Amino acid sequence: MIEVAGPNADQIRYWNEVAGPKWVALDDVISAQIRPLGLLAMDRAGIAAGERVLDVGCGLGETSLELGRRVGPGGAVVGIDISAPMLEKARATAQAAGAANATFENADAQSAALPGPFDVLYSRFGVMFFADPEAAFTNLRRALRPGARLAFVCWRSLQENPWLLVPAMTAARHVSMPQPDPHAPGPFAFADAARVRDLLSRAGFVQVQHEPVDHELSVAGGRPLDEAVELLLQLGPASAALREAKATPELIDRVRADLREAIAPHDGPGGVRMGSAVWIVTAAAG
Ligand SMILES: C[S@@+](CC[C@H](N)C(=O)[O-])C[C@H]1O[C@@H](n2cnc3c(N)ncnc32)[C@H](O)[C@@H]1O
Repeated sequence: MIEVAGPNADQIRYWNEVAGPKWVALDDVISAQIRPLGLLAMDRAGIAAGERVLDVGCGLGETSLELGRRVGPGGAVVGIDISAPMLEKARATAQAAGAANATFENADAQSAALPGPFDVLYSRFGVMFFADPEAAFTNLRRALRPGARLAFVCWRSLQENPWLLVPAMTAARHVSMPQPDPHAPGPFAFADAARVRDLLSRAGFVQVQHEPVDHELSVAGGRPLDEAVELLLQLGPASAALREAKATPELIDRVRADLREAIAPHDGPGGVRMGSAVWIVTAAAG
């Protein structure tokens, strides 16, 4: 594991000690939930055989393996992530799949010396956690060849994402909700398109485009209502508030019951489906 130090120390601790183990345990469910959004960003990147791709904040490596399939045996994918437990699973999955063209680096994308030049920078929800996003994208751009493409998917605001807003409002009936700086590292840090366009421009990217996509999310990948409730207690602002409030098991039980009632109307034959809103951001390295 990399040292818990530097400007992203809080995130390094969080993704190694709190979120990483959860994502490893919930791999199948989370991957099924966000897969369509990651594939959409990948399609926008227009990956070609033989290319070299950098997958930033690659986590459990699902996207790295799909990128590896798209670039083929003549190409290569490097997944970079600060979370050792997530990368351990990524490496095991790649080995089991015989994916020889995908490798993984445990490093901070904001500061690591990267083994470029890459033709494409890709990320599925892995670029919103930098303490200094401009410095991070400047570092990432240095690893790209001139004209290389960038494509990532990130969340729009909490208010536009009912699948996380409903659990947050439910938790708020029981605990006080922290009101973080909207630009602070976290899932919604890139919701403000103008800010992201500016920081990417300052980091040396051109032709920055934001495509809004509204998507009905399969919250627990088609699993039963109770599994969707458990997942929503583990992720996002509701989970953060319960953790911060050091909620007792009894209090969590009350939130669980309320949340079940709140999302039950969204349950159907394919499981719980709720609205989500993302940006697909594309650009070119200048
Ligand atoms: C929301 S998860 C997404 C994981 C993966 N891309 C996926 O879609 O399944 C965010 C990921 O970004 C990683 N991350 C956060 N800050 C990072 C940094 N400074 N450098 C590299 N990875 C980072 C986390 O460890 C985590 O794996």
